[in-house]
Amino acid sequence: MAESITITDNRTGNSIEIPIANGGVSAEEWAKLLPNIWFYDPAFSTTAAAASAITELDGDAGILRYRGYPIEQLAEKSTYLEVAYLLIYGELPNPTQYEQWVHDVTYHTFIHENVRKRFMEGFHHDAHPMGILVSTIAALSTFYPDAKDIFSAESRNKQIVRLIAKMPTMAAGAHRHSVGMPFVYPNNSLDFCSNFLSMMWKVAEPHYEPNPVLAKALEVLFILHADHEQNCGTTAMRVVGSSHADPYSAVAGATAALYGPRHGGANEQVIRMLTEIGHIDNVPAYIQRVKAGEVRLQGFGHRVYKNYDPRAKIIKRTADEVFEVTGKNPLLDIALALEEVALADEYFVSRKLYPNVDFYSGLIYQAMGFPIEMFTVLFAIPRTAGWLAHWIELLDRDARIARPRQLYDGAAVRDYVPLESR
Ligand code: ACO
Repeated sequence: MAESITITDNRTGNSIEIPIANGGVSAEEWAKLLPNIWFYDPAFSTTAAAASAITELDGDAGILRYRGYPIEQLAEKSTYLEVAYLLIYGELPNPTQYEQWVHDVTYHTFIHENVRKRFMEGFHHDAHPMGILVSTIAALSTFYPDAKDIFSAESRNKQIVRLIAKMPTMAAGAHRHSVGMPFVYPNNSLDFCSNFLSMMWKVAEPHYEPNPVLAKALEVLFILHADHEQNCGTTAMRVVGSSHADPYSAVAGATAALYGPRHGGANEQVIRMLTEIGHIDNVPAYIQRVKAGEVRLQGFGHRVYKNYDPRAKIIKRTADEVFEVTGKNPLLDIALALEEVALADEYFVSRKLYPNVDFYSGLIYQAMGFPIEMFTVLFAIPRTAGWLAHWIELLDRDARIARPRQLYDGAAVRDYVPLESR
């Protein structure tokens, strides 16, 4: 049987057959039969806004792959920087490419002194680190005017290296400022994750050496968060990027989208929820409130996963390794009880609500000492690799500017009424 659909315009009786390709049908074909009839899809739930070769996600089967490589293999065997290279350039690097890439990223970790002194230190003392991060990323575009040259391969690569390299420096700087601690300069003898931990936690010791189990856990978490195809933040990246804005402005837009509690802010909400529940004895009552529609079970449910989020499985294992070093996060028992009750309850089963990536990540971050305000920042650092991969892809594929349609449902035409007559 032909892989196609047929659409009939009942006003005219005209039909058009549209082939199904890659699981989708072309809206361009639809427009040939039905010009000026728009798909009404406000949250893009059934719209494929791009064709992409970066990340494959099958939400029903619980599958996540970057450039064809299963997330489980990458989390076990790779490093964040290698995964960033894979996402951006399409292939795993060979040893020479990898060495050059690590070298380039390592030697671009410093930020301009004016970014730190005049810009970051200008924020109010209790500014949220995500607010500082969004603004500082956007400000970088004024420090690198060559970033506007988006059709030069050399310039693009320079901005890619700068963004990947400077995110941890800005992220740690945002934290240090928000708690009144002096800024720590990058230590380029450390690997990517260890360097970030050093910039976060170093106090007076001449050389900060993080616990290798914690540095490895962060590496795994960064790999798991590096990309997730067309989510809210990545869509923001693509929309801003499609206007041919410079990559700093586009990454700032994507980071702003990530800031919201429905997206990257959810792991923060999970910890607040677990703290509010307070004890496993209170779990059944909380579940009742969720079922009554009073509150949501934070860290549960996903627009595309209708199965266990594969990242949540890996994170659960990582949590055990971290807790061996840090001691168990006392909220873990509440989380486990919540998961057990929810997975056996008809409300969650029938709606296919499973733990998502945020359900356990906050517990790890908290056990490692990160304040809650830093959780979304920890998401933004690795997601920068995914955002940049999508930015390069849309430029390479010469994507048109994003410009959806609307269905106007406001007032019909009416005459202006002078102020004194209203
Ligand atoms: N707790 C309780 N009920 C839920 C939850 C939840 N966490 N999530 C969805 N539902 C219910 C809805 O009430 C709805 O029920 P109904 O059909 O009886 O009205 C049904 O499941 C479908 O939910 P939608 O809101 O339509 O799902 P949507 O795809 O729009 O939302 C979202 C997805 C935002 C992730 C949602 O599941 C949610 O709010 N989860 C909690 C926040 C969270 O964990 N966000 C992180 C997502 S992962 C990420 O961004 C990295």
